[in-house]
Amino acid sequence: MATDKMPRHWYEDYERGRPGYPEQVVDLADLAPSATALELAAGTGKLTHQLVSRIAHVVAVEPDPGMRRMLVAGCPGVEAIDGTAEQIPFADDAVDAVFVAQAFHWFDHESALMEIARVLRPGGTLVVVWNVANGSVVPSITAVEKLLAPIWPRDYDFPLDMMSGDWTPGAWNLPFAQEAFSQIRETRLANPQTVDPHGLVAFFGSMGWVANLPDEERQPLVDAMRSHLTATEYLLPWQTRVQWTRLNKPQ
Ligand SMILES: C[S@@+](CC[C@H](N)C(=O)[O-])C[C@H]1O[C@@H](n2cnc3c(N)ncnc32)[C@H](O)[C@@H]1O
Repeated sequence: MATDKMPRHWYEDYERGRPGYPEQVVDLADLAPSATALELAAGTGKLTHQLVSRIAHVVAVEPDPGMRRMLVAGCPGVEAIDGTAEQIPFADDAVDAVFVAQAFHWFDHESALMEIARVLRPGGTLVVVWNVANGSVVPSITAVEKLLAPIWPRDYDFPLDMMSGDWTPGAWNLPFAQEAFSQIRETRLANPQTVDPHGLVAFFGSMGWVANLPDEERQPLVDAMRSHLTATEYLLPWQTRVQWTRLNKPQ
């Protein structure tokens, strides 16, 4: 039986601290209400919430049982199944749209795209979504940044960068995608997130380099972050980058 990939607190921090997505992400796919949508790497369901509120039939695929538990708890009734992007447990031409939020960088790009092309019906839509930082936290959190600086990866912009280098929007735009899909379109949507101090600490706790610290180092860091966050609310200025395309498969 598959086991959780991360310590238990990480799943709670992820759900509490990470940003969701604007509802326009779903509208861009231009789906009929009766459509069937597949979400790959659904995680705790941050995009799934938007999908189930607007699309008749949504199936969420997520390989990590800890993520799936949170997903089912927060999105009751959603069909959540075990699986990966490289081996999607679906028949050919089975879905009208595939959504991937903040996860394409985890996939073997080429195999995942081939699987996505296989399960999409001709003309079906692929939507790939990323939240990227677009400014600094307000009010500023200099004291917390100082605490985190020693463990923050050197090639990640500080303090809201969740991905850099190859882990960037567009990393999936490979030759296969250019052949199999229509020209990729892109838009950027403002997606400000307001969190209380616990939410901001959870956001930082959801970073692997914090979550995987031994408890005797992580807990004092969490307590120190919390003690420096004296405002009632913090604004995290995310921008959601949405890229979408349609499958060119012959009808
Ligand atoms: C950063 S989380 C994103 C979760 C969610 N989509 C969101 O926007 O919050 C990345 C997710 O990708 C999943 N994942 C990693 N490798 C995968 C793969 N090869 N196929 C499908 N999902 C994968 C992880 O289990 C994790 O839930």
